[in-house]
Amino acid sequence: MIHKTGAEVALMKEAATLVSKTLTEVAKVIKPGMTTLQVDALCAEFVKDYKAIPSFLNYRGYPHNICASVNDVVVHGFPNNEALKEGDIVSIDMGVILNGWHGDHAYTFMLGEVSDEILQLVRVTKESLYKGIEKAIVNNRVGDISFAIQDHTERKYGFGVVRELVGHGLGRSLHEDPQVPNYGKRGTGPKMKENLVLAIEPMINLGSREVYTDDDGWTVRTRDGKPSVHFEHDVCVKRNQALILSDYSIIEAAEKANTNLNSSYY
Ligand code: MF3
Ligand code: CO
Repeated sequence: MIHKTGAEVALMKEAATLVSKTLTEVAKVIKPGMTTLQVDALCAEFVKDYKAIPSFLNYRGYPHNICASVNDVVVHGFPNNEALKEGDIVSIDMGVILNGWHGDHAYTFMLGEVSDEILQLVRVTKESLYKGIEKAIVNNRVGDISFAIQDHTERKYGFGVVRELVGHGLGRSLHEDPQVPNYGKRGTGPKMKENLVLAIEPMINLGSREVYTDDDGWTVRTRDGKPSVHFEHDVCVKRNQALILSDYSIIEAAEKANTNLNSSYY
């Protein structure tokens, strides 16, 4: 596992913050009628001014700048030309390389009225991310993060925790050790030391945890066709409390100000 210096963590915070700013631009304008390809173009355009490189494009052949995962799509959805519609939920996942360092995170938006169970799924998935982050401290083990996420979503609410995809270390590469599953046992897995940087990303299904991948080789969907929610933060392990490098506060402010978005779970 790669541990960063303080100066490197500061650079990673800049990369993560740029992703947060990009997702904030999305939060300002996303609405029914917009297509996810338009969201993709907006994101790519926005980071150009910062001389940042969208990191997903061409990663293992991935053909777009962002992942846009609508409703039953869990993660890695391709942006497309379909108009988003009232009642959709969409996870926008964006990665950049800025000054050689990766930022990679995601936020799920709700367009207009959604059912109470979807509202709860979104709220609980976000809560579980913070429960996991609370465990990202020195001398804890990765399994402590995993357990906290699974406990809050699966045991407490009966939601399906996706097993096939996991969080990961982050740095000069998009994916570094360790893997950070969203399920697991307390006190297991690698022990964490100061300045380990992790992308923690619960993927939580309203129904069963089972998923499959489309013929395009990327799009991961729920087997039962029910919706799935994805939130991701970039986090630096510290002694008493993890340092969150990404910034949801600016995304949330824009989300609340956008009357086309539902933020009634706050
Ligand atoms: N946040 C996702 C991840 O960490 C996004 C990767 S999409 C890819 O794996 F195209 F870059 F693979
Ligand atoms: Co990630």
